Amino acid sequence: MKPIKDPNGKVIAELLQDEDVTSSLSGKKLAVIGYASQGRGQSLCYRDSGVDVIVGLRKGGASWARALEDGWAPGTTLMEIPDAVKAADIVLLLIADTAQPEVYAKSIAPSLSAGKMLVFSHGFNIHFKGIAAPKDVDVAMIAPKGPGFVVRQEYEKGFGVPALVAVHQDASGSAWDLILAMAKAIGATKPGVLKTTFKDEVESDLFGEQVDLCGGVVEMVKHAYETLIEAGYNPALAYWEVHHELYGLIAPLAYQYGNYGMLSRVSLTARKGAVVSGPRVMTADVKERMKECLVDIQSGKFAKDWMAEYKEHGYAKLNAELDMLKAHQLEVVGKQVRRIMWPKKDVE
Ligand SMILES: NC(=O)c1ccc[n+]([C@@H]2O[C@H](COP(=O)([O-])OP(=O)(O)OC[C@H]3O[C@@H](n4cnc5c(N)ncnc54)[C@H](OP(=O)(O)O)[C@@H]3O)[C@@H](O)[C@H]2O)c1
Ligand SMILES: [Mg+2]
Repeated sequence: MKPIKDPNGKVIAELLQDEDVTSSLSGKKLAVIGYASQGRGQSLCYRDSGVDVIVGLRKGGASWARALEDGWAPGTTLMEIPDAVKAADIVLLLIADTAQPEVYAKSIAPSLSAGKMLVFSHGFNIHFKGIAAPKDVDVAMIAPKGPGFVVRQEYEKGFGVPALVAVHQDASGSAWDLILAMAKAIGATKPGVLKTTFKDEVESDLFGEQVDLCGGVVEMVKHAYETLIEAGYNPALAYWEVHHELYGLIAPLAYQYGNYGMLSRVSLTARKGAVVSGPRVMTADVKERMKECLVDIQSGKFAKDWMAEYKEHGYAKLNAELDMLKAHQLEVVGKQVRRIMWPKKDVE
């Protein structure tokens, strides 16, 4: 176990790595339900780690075709969801969060007999009560802190993506052993895993993607781009400045060296500008808005509204909102610049 300390030396977290996990999945059959980002990424890692793994999908979907391409064999390692659940000891539910409650009720619950373990990669449906598992099954979580394709890429490099692990229900008494063995099998214990709760995983995950990773940063870049365009600057110049450099050059520096380390690697003038204008833009008021988002997450309002919208409109409303973003000049310009810069790369 590796301690993380606060600036006064007090231990405030502990990360588990390979040597801390001695349990294994031997004798257990694992069914991965779903084959998109996480389902594909994780199931291929389990397979290469020697886990007895099968994939459960609906026939005819895009995932079924993809699984066939990856060598999963119908009838033995690829089957329809109820058959996979029947055959498995551990069921890892990796279909869309919105669809999980209906698929669980129809295709999973009837075959989820006592002693099995139900596993998630996001606490959404357990925490917000879209799914209530029976008391005689274990309920646990392995939530990689990165997209499924990166889970796979890192594993192929002999490493892994860090992950959160949690146990919601330990009916068998071995839920922690099994979930840690799963974390090890996908390489997550190489960088490290943190034991947490479903509540903390889901609330922090939604918060991060909303205010920072996916929501906040996109709006910040849009504001910066529009400011330059409205002041008469060239669009390609504006794109390179506020988007290209952020994601391609500055974010990787901060990823590897931290924010301070990133600032130590830019010019002195950039450093001065950062401390002068960063706090001027990202004011205490922005933090207040972040707190409001967190309140809506913690109260369940965000989840309730999203599930209600899904039930009424499916993904139509979300897609219309995303189409508006797609039509923004930053996206239109960026796409062209990327294609000119990288004609041989898989770019959009
Ligand atoms: N995306 C990430 O990187 C990430 C990171 C951490 C945690 N997670 C969590 O991992 C889980 C899976 O997320 P994801 O992004 O990999 O998948 P996703 O894109 O949200 O969902 C797509 C998968 O769900 C299946 N699916 C959707 N509706 C279905 C239905 N009615 N019946 C049967 N299958 C259905 C699809 O199968 P078809 O092809 O047959 O439609 C496909 O396999 C979620 O709990 C998510 O929160 C994701
Ligand atoms: Mg998330």
